[in-house]
Amino acid sequence: MLKKPLLSIVVLLIVSLFLILFSSSSPFSGTPYSITSFSDRPEIWSLRRVVEWRPCKWWLQQPPSPLPAHSNGYIRVDCYGGLNQMRRDFCDGVGIARLLNATLVLPKFEVAAYWNESSGFADVFDVDYFIQEMNGYVKVVKDLPADIASKEPFRVDCSKRKGRFDYVESVLPALLEHRYISMTPAMSQRRDRYPLHGKATLCQACYTALRLTNSLEKKGLELLQAIPKPFLSLHLRFEPDMVAYSQCEYFGLSSTSLKAIEAARADRKPWAGEASRIWRNRGKCPLTPNETALILQALSVPTNTNIYLAAGDGLMELEGLTSVYTNAVRKSTLLSDEDFTSMHGNTKAALDYYVSINSDYYIATYFGNMDKMVAAIRAMKGLYKTLFLSRRAFAVFTSQGLRGERLMEALWKAHRDDFVMSRGSALSDCFCEFQL
Ligand SMILES: *[C@@H]1O[C@H](CO)[C@@H](O)[C@H](O)[C@H]1NC(C)=O
Ligand SMILES: *[C@@H]1O[C@H](CO)[C@@H](O)[C@H](O)[C@H]1NC(C)=O
Ligand SMILES: *[C@@H]1O[C@H](CO)[C@@H](O)[C@H](O)[C@H]1NC(C)=O
Repeated sequence: MLKKPLLSIVVLLIVSLFLILFSSSSPFSGTPYSITSFSDRPEIWSLRRVVEWRPCKWWLQQPPSPLPAHSNGYIRVDCYGGLNQMRRDFCDGVGIARLLNATLVLPKFEVAAYWNESSGFADVFDVDYFIQEMNGYVKVVKDLPADIASKEPFRVDCSKRKGRFDYVESVLPALLEHRYISMTPAMSQRRDRYPLHGKATLCQACYTALRLTNSLEKKGLELLQAIPKPFLSLHLRFEPDMVAYSQCEYFGLSSTSLKAIEAARADRKPWAGEASRIWRNRGKCPLTPNETALILQALSVPTNTNIYLAAGDGLMELEGLTSVYTNAVRKSTLLSDEDFTSMHGNTKAALDYYVSINSDYYIATYFGNMDKMVAAIRAMKGLYKTLFLSRRAFAVFTSQGLRGERLMEALWKAHRDDFVMSRGSALSDCFCEFQL
């Protein structure tokens, strides 16, 4: 029998021990027991999924309605931005060409502004394969008929259209008048006016007919073969310009990183105080490599996992990840020097894409154009070990004061549910949810 005072001392001791064990001070401290204490959680990939995204039946099973005998004219799609943004706009443009009963000319990939280089559509994608795969969906030509080949296309500006406009009403007249137009699609087509054959054409173009050129595939395969297997392709985004653009506040970054961010900042001041907290809790802030490593550990991704870093050259604070996940490789170390330095931005982006659609696992710290494209192609190939880390969940849990094992537990649950329900990765209109 314990006497009363002794009992309270024992209780106090147990409580203190409990507190010490479960309040590992900082989420980044990575103390040994905060790693071993959840080792009984399975790796996230081993969970049974309940829902997955698959190509919609109306696209794959329905034969396309016959092409009109008469073409209303020629359309060239002009694409800007990074590789996957250009691809997205091009796919929309292919659907619009079908909608307008037009003939498609090969697109213009306007890459100079973004990448400071000149690799066009044919340098990245296999043109003959594209034309062959679009047979029956939309007419595509490599060369214009002689009477209009010498003209520049009439530019139709879609960006200034208000609201959800209709391409047949607002673009067809210009096409009929000029016979050859160029346009950059705006994502505001009225969906109720977008017939299934237009949508199916878009889907076919984007997810079936676009294949990298032979030489890019060969280079991609070389890179793929050099990566130890099995491996996780991790699309990590933490570059000065994207951090500056996010207007997020970060503490504890190196002075080199802070300087680089300041240089990219221009007039985009970071939010401060309460506004900064709200902004962060809405999931607006890119995850640092540190935070990424923490979340990966919360998902029970073993720290000896082979990781391919699908990332640009300007990545900051990488040690925050590589000090924990030590088997991480980048293309700059896997490719020979000559190969790497002679490579264009688009080519490098294409290689990251190629590796990522062929990796055992894919995790992105952001849900950008590349991530959407990679997730869709992986779904086409039946590769479902794909996950998007939740910036929102991380921000909300840490602002609630969760630390250590409690933070890990909360992050695990949020991502477990995302993975099992295929949430956080809504795919385009071409994909439908499928109950398993
Ligand atoms: C396209 O062709 C189909 C069939 O020939 C026709 O029904 C439809 O109205 C045409 N649409 C346009 C915008 O010309
Ligand atoms: C872009 O190209 C121009 C001309 O070739 C060159 O002078 C400039 O330094 C390049 N800029 C970057 C950021 O590479
Ligand atoms: C990231 O983690 C490292 C240790 O891995 C630590 O030294 C550094 O302070 C952390 N940075 C931030 C921003 O928390």
